[in-house]
Amino acid sequence: MQLVHLIGRVRFAVVLALLAFTHWSVAENERVADFALLDSEGSFHQLRKYGGNKAIAIVSMAASCENTLANLHKYRLLQTTWESQGVAFLALNSTAETSFEDSRELNRLYQLDMPILVDSSQLVAELLGIQQAGEILVVEPDRFRVLYRGGLDLESGRADPSINTAQVTDTSYLSQTLSHIVNDEWDLLTNTVTTAVAGCELDFPGRDADLAAVPDYSSEVAPILVEKCASCHREGGIAPFAMNSHMMVQGWAPMMKEVMLTKRMPPAQVDPNVNHFTNARYMDSKELQTLVHWIDAGSPRGNGKTDPLTLIESPNSEWELGEPDYIVEVPAFTVPATGVLDYENVTINLPFEEDVWIKSVQHLPGDRRVLHHLLSYIVPADYAEKIVEGENDQYREFLEGYAPGKDEAATYPGEAGMFVPKGSAVQMSLHYTTFGRETIDKTLLGLYFADEQPKYQYSTYALSHGGRNIVIPPGVSEHKMSASHVFKDEIMLHGLRPHMHYRGKYMKFRVVYPDGTQDDIINVPDYNFNWQPTYRLSEPMLLPAGSRVIVEGAFDNSAFNLGNPDPGATVRGGAQSWNEMFIGYFSYHKTVPHQ
Ligand code: HEC
Repeated sequence: MQLVHLIGRVRFAVVLALLAFTHWSVAENERVADFALLDSEGSFHQLRKYGGNKAIAIVSMAASCENTLANLHKYRLLQTTWESQGVAFLALNSTAETSFEDSRELNRLYQLDMPILVDSSQLVAELLGIQQAGEILVVEPDRFRVLYRGGLDLESGRADPSINTAQVTDTSYLSQTLSHIVNDEWDLLTNTVTTAVAGCELDFPGRDADLAAVPDYSSEVAPILVEKCASCHREGGIAPFAMNSHMMVQGWAPMMKEVMLTKRMPPAQVDPNVNHFTNARYMDSKELQTLVHWIDAGSPRGNGKTDPLTLIESPNSEWELGEPDYIVEVPAFTVPATGVLDYENVTINLPFEEDVWIKSVQHLPGDRRVLHHLLSYIVPADYAEKIVEGENDQYREFLEGYAPGKDEAATYPGEAGMFVPKGSAVQMSLHYTTFGRETIDKTLLGLYFADEQPKYQYSTYALSHGGRNIVIPPGVSEHKMSASHVFKDEIMLHGLRPHMHYRGKYMKFRVVYPDGTQDDIINVPDYNFNWQPTYRLSEPMLLPAGSRVIVEGAFDNSAFNLGNPDPGATVRGGAQSWNEMFIGYFSYHKTVPHQ
């Protein structure tokens, strides 16, 4: 132990000399870029969103590092002292073998009160320049300036000589920095204070491998882009630029890195530790590393002969299952060249003379450049007279949705189907975005009837908090809400969709079984109003009769929610998008046959 420590010091001295040199010559604060990670419990953290804090202390930890464990009580003490004065604390677990399990274990064993961010790809450690567990970074969350980088206190090393030592009155440069911050002594914080770290060196096997051999564009990079991005980033697609050549991607590369590290793209990601969904856009550590390290290396074209991005074909607008039994024609809608459009709602009567069962549906978007997504429902023809504003909508049955990259026909699972009584209509809610030129969208919905009557009725339950109960005070960054419902019959659960408006922050669904045990169903940690697909379970869940499902979520009515139209408003429930809603949709079928 002692020896390790000594060797450590030798190395620290070298590191320090280099850092000191940089700081003298540049004489300003080091900066980092924004990032987002989930913590061990599945909550989303983004640096920028901590803008309400004076600073944020990021403590690099590792369960396997004795030093981390030995210092836990000191971290706690620091947190107790400074958190109440406006400094937020986050732990960062960036070891190469990091998993959610070992981060949870760390939390469970040592009962840290700070979130443990799980950096399995190590890309955040790379971004922050963290090399050891034990390293602490104090960052200004709105300007991304690094105010302090180093160890726990002075005893662990010597401080960067560029610090104005005349200001240092106690033994800890860290405490000194924090004290300047909470006292708003910003003129004393114009250099990054750098001290040595007594910690455990982190290995970066992914980075080292990619440094030794930069990921090859044709065979490694482009295939990931084709699979994860190009369904939208294509010629005639919904996204603002097409990934249609190496040149194009190279131009966008810095921005691509940023949107991936902040988890903004690909959209509709969910917590990968809760169930698996066929249409969630997961990115694993290896994929992220390949793309980011390739970008860091200057996004080279490599020697691969063909450029896979030039070979992408546009999806053909065809009926996958042949000519439908009935085609619903959505009235032509003129999408203007610019502007933000509210949802377009249309109701189209169905002319059927008798009850029918639908087994499959497919939407054919009219213009893929503007149709952001749509949701279709079966409603009674006189639906408009039946609904009561703000009430739980029991007359609407969710049929299907369309979202970019999801062009295929959807067939109700197993022996389930959609019952359409005579006198029904299709209601559609369409979301259009503009792209600089006026265009006309004529979307079609193809319905395929079941050959024989399906055994089970596919249905969607809207678990709502009730519009009237929603009152969100201005500026609040986490206004929590929940709602629950007991399914009286046994059900097979297939799909989930959280629904809130612009202030929606996160939503989780879980089930409490009649025997008292629980399971998580889905966790959407960074809810985005623009992306709300019905997430489809890869393995449907059987919920016994009497199961209670619970949705828990929160609204962010602060200015740090960039989608917030007015952080100064008290927001109430209502159907308009500037009002709020709190609904968890459960798509399922009962396991008792339809009567
Ligand atoms: C489901 C469709 C979809 C997928 C998949 C998708 N994007 Fe996007 N992307 C969009 C849309 C729409 C926008 C513009 C609006 C927005 O930011 O939501 C966008 C914007 C972007 C931007 C520009 C951001 C800006 O502020 O201008 C970048 C960069 C980007 N995407 C990268 C990616 C990368 C990298 C992937 C794959 C890892 C990806 N996207 C996957 C739809 C998608």
